[in-house]
Amino acid sequence: MCPPLAAVGKNSDMRIGVLTSGGDAPGLNAVIRGAVLNGERQYGLDFVGIRDGWRGLVDADFQPLERQHVKGIGKLGGTILGSSRTNPFEGKGGIDRINQVMADAGMDAILAIGGEGSLAAANRLYEAGIKIVGVPKTVDNDLSATDYTFGFDTAVNIATEAMDRLRTTGDSHHRCMVAEVMGRHVGWIALHSGMAVGAHAILIPERKTSLEEIVGWVSSAVERGRAPLVCVAEGFLLDTMDDAHSERGLDAFGRPRLGGIGEKLAPLIEKATGIETRATTLGHIQRGGTPSAFDRVLATRFGMNAARLIAEKQWGNIVALRGTDIITTSLESALGELKTVPLERWDEAALLFG
Ligand code: F6P
Repeated sequence: MCPPLAAVGKNSDMRIGVLTSGGDAPGLNAVIRGAVLNGERQYGLDFVGIRDGWRGLVDADFQPLERQHVKGIGKLGGTILGSSRTNPFEGKGGIDRINQVMADAGMDAILAIGGEGSLAAANRLYEAGIKIVGVPKTVDNDLSATDYTFGFDTAVNIATEAMDRLRTTGDSHHRCMVAEVMGRHVGWIALHSGMAVGAHAILIPERKTSLEEIVGWVSSAVERGRAPLVCVAEGFLLDTMDDAHSERGLDAFGRPRLGGIGEKLAPLIEKATGIETRATTLGHIQRGGTPSAFDRVLATRFGMNAARLIAEKQWGNIVALRGTDIITTSLESALGELKTVPLERWDEAALLFG
């Protein structure tokens, strides 16, 4: 359990730079609002916005971030600060440049809201002496340091609604519909949304699957007079594949840009079953728009408690969710093992496939 939010004295001499880095997630603005409101009110902290993640820090590109700038933003998608996948150690970046920029701006510490890649960069900066507190973020929900990340619930809701729609058009045309959802290394969005819609197959990165198995589920659904729905995570691999399907190169952190496995599977399923098969890639629709109520609450609590960590000078730490409690853990813990879908969870869902 964390201490009461107002337990620390005022630190009006501290100026905190806030940045959002990596792929955006619904709830980022609620984190910013929670941190600024609670930080100003309870601890007397001053905030400044850093534009477009680490890029803004390296380029000294800032924007005002006071109470008036966060009013009403908790329900807005995206991030008022902008984001990027810039690596702060590349180009003209690096620790000397960042120290200089922070000193020039009178910035004492940084609140970094980001996923695995961004928090790895934050940890490197922390080890080099920069005062940093982190908030974990990823729609994929793949950070083992926290039970849930904000944005995941919204993405699952969007994917669920989209697949409900795919089912009605699939039914009308007696087609097999393949829906590709996000999930770079893990299949949490696919598992949750796929179970929610009653998909006839859920394909996740953690469980390589043969085309024969997929065809078996599709055919059995057709035999029962159903229009099959296959939910596939972008990072899924057929048992014949060594790497996840990627055709758009690498991002700034050297990770393959995924997307397209649904389009790859659809003709294979059609050829093997004779059933007309169409693929839809949901892509960034899952990350856009207004956050769900669950995500707004989680993100607000993360932001409020991140302000507390700053006031307590708990540098090198992040906030996280355990059960219903907000806890504190190290940046390093966010970089450990990915939180993958346990195979028992997939086996459980697979009992209803076909
Ligand atoms: O990491 C979150 C995520 O949404 C992944 O699911 C996806 O592979 C990736 O980001 C997409 O990144 P970008 O927006 O840079 O294309």
